Amino acid sequence: PRKVILDMDPGVDDAIALCVALAEPQIELLAVTATGGNVAPKQATRNVQTIIEQVDPPRWPRIGAASADQLLRTDARHLMGVDGLCGVDFPVAELHNRHPSIKVLSDEIRGAAGEVTVVATGPLSNIATLLKAEPDLATEIGHLIILGGTHSGPGNITPAAEFNIYCDAESARQVFQSPVTKTLIPVDVSSEVMLELDVLERLKQSESRTARFLAKILPNAFRMQRQVLGLEALAVHDVVAVTAAVRPDLFTTEPLHGDVETAGELTHGATVFDRRNVTSARPNMDVAVELQVDGVLQYILGRLKAAP
Ligand code: BDR
Ligand code: CA
Repeated sequence: PRKVILDMDPGVDDAIALCVALAEPQIELLAVTATGGNVAPKQATRNVQTIIEQVDPPRWPRIGAASADQLLRTDARHLMGVDGLCGVDFPVAELHNRHPSIKVLSDEIRGAAGEVTVVATGPLSNIATLLKAEPDLATEIGHLIILGGTHSGPGNITPAAEFNIYCDAESARQVFQSPVTKTLIPVDVSSEVMLELDVLERLKQSESRTARFLAKILPNAFRMQRQVLGLEALAVHDVVAVTAAVRPDLFTTEPLHGDVETAGELTHGATVFDRRNVTSARPNMDVAVELQVDGVLQYILGRLKAAP
């Protein structure tokens, strides 16, 4: 199995991503490190713990706590409820004494240098802070898969910017410019994968803890998405990034030089790719430009079906 750390800000689609990672035998989930984003840092940490408690996998990953000092430009409570999990009243997870996310990331990456895939499905604050504090880690991370930005489509939080990058564009810029080996899954690609309402019926038929957990949050998620965005199907961006870690064969990528706008008035947080083919802008990441929609969807549904 591949050693994986999920750095996330749950969030409904982060929750689905975590459920799939926990159910994937090809993934050895070392840790889940929380970051603020969809919700404030403390709530994100609480949600990571809640999801893991609800799914209760045979082997629990380490949990890292998001830093209260994180500076974020916005959140997604309008779309996911004030708690980020669509207002379902889960028993309040007790926050145990957690190490900070960046300590957990550092320990686990150093413990298996060059072998760890980090899948980042929230703002990139933790990764940027880590690389600033311990720059040598840039070459110790095996692979960083980032869910965020847009390749050629519009933004989703502003006309120009995608949510994760916009929340902490300065950090995203530092990560983009770092020498870490990385793949970007932009939202104009991830949003091709949508869950239809009938998934609820299938989840209701299953006895697994994962299905029971998702059957509690997803009905509200569908409802809120319909009310706020007018969409019947549910975009599940973050789980697409987990899929890319296990099934890269389902994606077409292009090496590109990517950067992040941090000074624009209308374009703050926009991702910019240099396609001029000049030596000053050598590719610094692989960008997913296409995916096999049915293949990814089948993969996700298959894992959820087999989940504990
Ligand atoms: C990203 O924004 C967040 O709201 C989602 O969890 C996902 O990570 C999509 O733009
Ligand atoms: Ca997310």
